[in-house]
Amino acid sequence: MSRPLRLRGIRPYGADDPVDLLLRDGVIAELGTGLDGTGAEVFDGGGLIALPGLVDLHAHLREPGREDAETIATGSAAAALGGYTAVFAMANTDPVADTAVVVEHVYRRGCEIGLVDVHPVGAVTAGLRGERLAELGAMAASAAAVRMFSDDGGCVHDSLLMRRALEYTRGLRGVIAQHAEDPRLTAGAQAHEGEIAARLGLAGWPAAAEESIVARDCLLARDAAAALHVCHVSTAGTVEILRWAKERGIRVSAEVTPHHLLLTDERLAGYDPVNKVNPPLRTAADSAALRAALAEGIVDCVATDHAPHAAQDKDCEWSAARPGVLGLQTALSVVMATMVRPGLLDWRGVARVMSERPARIGGAADQGRPIAVGQPATLVLVDPDATWTVRGAALASLADNTPYEGMELPGRVVATLLRGEITTEDGKVQR
Ligand code: DOR
Ligand code: ZN
Repeated sequence: MSRPLRLRGIRPYGADDPVDLLLRDGVIAELGTGLDGTGAEVFDGGGLIALPGLVDLHAHLREPGREDAETIATGSAAAALGGYTAVFAMANTDPVADTAVVVEHVYRRGCEIGLVDVHPVGAVTAGLRGERLAELGAMAASAAAVRMFSDDGGCVHDSLLMRRALEYTRGLRGVIAQHAEDPRLTAGAQAHEGEIAARLGLAGWPAAAEESIVARDCLLARDAAAALHVCHVSTAGTVEILRWAKERGIRVSAEVTPHHLLLTDERLAGYDPVNKVNPPLRTAADSAALRAALAEGIVDCVATDHAPHAAQDKDCEWSAARPGVLGLQTALSVVMATMVRPGLLDWRGVARVMSERPARIGGAADQGRPIAVGQPATLVLVDPDATWTVRGAALASLADNTPYEGMELPGRVVATLLRGEITTEDGKVQR
């Protein structure tokens, strides 16, 4: 057993008055002021804010198959340094995570690395081909205990297949995470369909390609009494459909990415492919609607859609570049800039949208727990007053495709604790 650790002078959920936490055997053993931590290692918090460790429902870790872009090791490091203690690893790997063998491999690699809990997401359809269901039951029964299934990167667009997937996952107590994009409406699309795409001469990705799938899926989830999760909501119209569905008791949850909260299609003017992402950056009115929906709870949580790409796939002309941006190490700062600073969320709210709700949606029972005696010591410590300048080359990811290059962002993750094991800012793990 490791030595007990005493976190001195930290502020749970941003409370005004600092307390000490005594961590023993991976659990919060005591919480209060003036604790007797004799024999414990001391970590001086100096007023840092403590939140439950962040949970990301949507990350592309690229292993197996594209270890030149990211690995489970580098992605786990980026996650831990970004304040995450659990990440859901998307299935669009090579081979695809559509069998028990592949999801168990990802799960075991995550355990070996041990910086964050890695939960493999299983593919909905075999090979992500959208033709027949993958072995959902076998993945659920595997050591990886998969509960979230997604064809992310592509959409389960066949209505009957989506209906069957929802019916089947209901029995598995799972959830289908849908990348909502009608592929017929987005064939060749390069940017949000609107004024800016028209001016730049880029083929448009209409809002209706997302909204029509979300509306359909809400109805299918209603009929199957199944859980649906909508990935990376990007339009104001989708927010209204989610509101309609939630008012009717349909089991639908939704995520928004940090980049859709902060960035808009105005960034596209220079044709820099670092801004190419799927779904595309939308209008300022859309991102304002997303911020309001996250504050209100119509959009349940933040997920990064961390999408590292090797330079040869990203540093090329716009139409050939892969969509996607890095997200794990910048998410908390972007949420602070877009939600906390403007007064849309307080720190309790941040804990809700970045930890508690994603843990519940993904079925990670050990995560998103309250900061209280007897609970796992799975935490993030944040300096809310610090600022930092983003440099892609300095991030732990193998790739460097961050859209925030050179931007000064508020809030710094100082340490992340996973069941008492600490990862500090400099990447060193103290054991
Ligand atoms: O921008 C994106 N990148 N959106 C997706 O849906 C997939 C992802 C990727 O795998 O790169
Ligand atoms: Zn997606």
